[in-house]
Amino acid sequence: TTSVSPAPEGRETWTSNRGFILAAIGSAAGLGNIWRFPGVAYEGGGGAFLIPYLIALVTAGIPILFLDYAVGHRFRAAAPLAFRRMWRKAEALGWFQTAILFVISTYYAVIIAWSLSYFYFSFDLSWGDDAAAFFTGDYLHLGDPGVSTEIVGGVAWPLIAVWAAIIVILALGVAKGVEKLNVIGLPLLVLGFSALVIKALTLPGASDGLNALFTPDWGALTDLNVWIAAYSQIFFSMSIAFGIMISYASFQRRKANMTSSGLVVGFANSSFELLAGIGVFSTLGFLAHQQSVTVGELEGITGPTLSFITFPTVIAQMPGSALFGALFFGSLAIAGFTSLISLVLGVSVAFQEKFGLSKTTAAVSVGIVSAIVSFGLFATTTGLIALDTVDQFANNIGIVVSAIAMCVVVVWLARTIETLRGHLNAVSTFTVGKWWIPVIGLYAPIFLGIMLVQKVYDLVK
Ligand code: PHE
Repeated sequence: TTSVSPAPEGRETWTSNRGFILAAIGSAAGLGNIWRFPGVAYEGGGGAFLIPYLIALVTAGIPILFLDYAVGHRFRAAAPLAFRRMWRKAEALGWFQTAILFVISTYYAVIIAWSLSYFYFSFDLSWGDDAAAFFTGDYLHLGDPGVSTEIVGGVAWPLIAVWAAIIVILALGVAKGVEKLNVIGLPLLVLGFSALVIKALTLPGASDGLNALFTPDWGALTDLNVWIAAYSQIFFSMSIAFGIMISYASFQRRKANMTSSGLVVGFANSSFELLAGIGVFSTLGFLAHQQSVTVGELEGITGPTLSFITFPTVIAQMPGSALFGALFFGSLAIAGFTSLISLVLGVSVAFQEKFGLSKTTAAVSVGIVSAIVSFGLFATTTGLIALDTVDQFANNIGIVVSAIAMCVVVVWLARTIETLRGHLNAVSTFTVGKWWIPVIGLYAPIFLGIMLVQKVYDLVK
């Protein structure tokens, strides 16, 4: 049932199930959907990639999302305390997840700051006709020592604004801050991004882009790396096994339809991912058309390069460019911000619970420390170079280790899986069957273990 019962003593709650679902989708739908999924899908077999992707969604994404929800909702705390309540020794796992969140948040904020600057730049296409030189030189001052402090032009002010906003929203709390943000931000994102996709579909060459993205290369299905890429994408994209969904679920009222919400969140996130694929590849098709090359010959189709070099280049060449630019960078900023808030909330609540702080004290102290690290590392030249390494480590290795540990702890060490299943089923309409136990206890850790070995091998190779 979706009926709600009173909050547990003293703990804040989302005001409604809808508020929780919107916030959870806001966390999931982030930069990873916009700049990571399209390129990963294209390189992983195009249309054929949807098979491993959907299998990863159903065999790991949804089951582990349920696990996160169950842990948070049953034990009513952010990751460290929730795991501790489950099994004393598991508190360390919660701190490991919190550490990953902290690291990701420090560079995620920087990218949102860039998006804000570029939103502003869109109105007069400040990047001119050499978007690459503008990004690395004029904007980031790569090669100049120290932090760039140029107002608006540099990363400093937008980055300060991002962290200040995060602190204010977290201090306002779960219902008045985080939920409000998502209730406004998510519809805005969907509307803005849909407008962008519609516009992109009308550009000459759009269909070539879509063909490039969706034409299946069935051979990819026999490549283990493609499967690994699909599982990695699902993990990062759904924000699972980071402890985030544990803290979000911990603020759900006692009687809340957890599993059905999980299904909505999982499918909504993947739908947004597909929409992003369509928007990005239609635009890339247009770029290829302008340059008289094939889509396959284009470079810079993922990550920061896609967003801050390739997109500005295309935008400058299209009719209605300012609007398109504003929609693109506005979407990046909102999608990123509604994810960033979940990352920092996870860290902040963990410290709040550990040291008995008020939510304001926790938000201010965690926010300031993160902002300083964010500045020191990623708004400086040397830090930028570290971004990629950090990203590799946190996303590829950190999260896989965390997911394996979580499965092993819950099923084999703390042996709470049956309790958690009972808990989910007691509150939800979608019943979790017994299949869940071997999926979490065997399938997931074994597959993730293979993934880990492969990733470590790739990194040291
Ligand atoms: N899911 C977000 C994305 O796709 C990123 C994220 C990862 C957010 C982990 C929170 C936690 O970009």
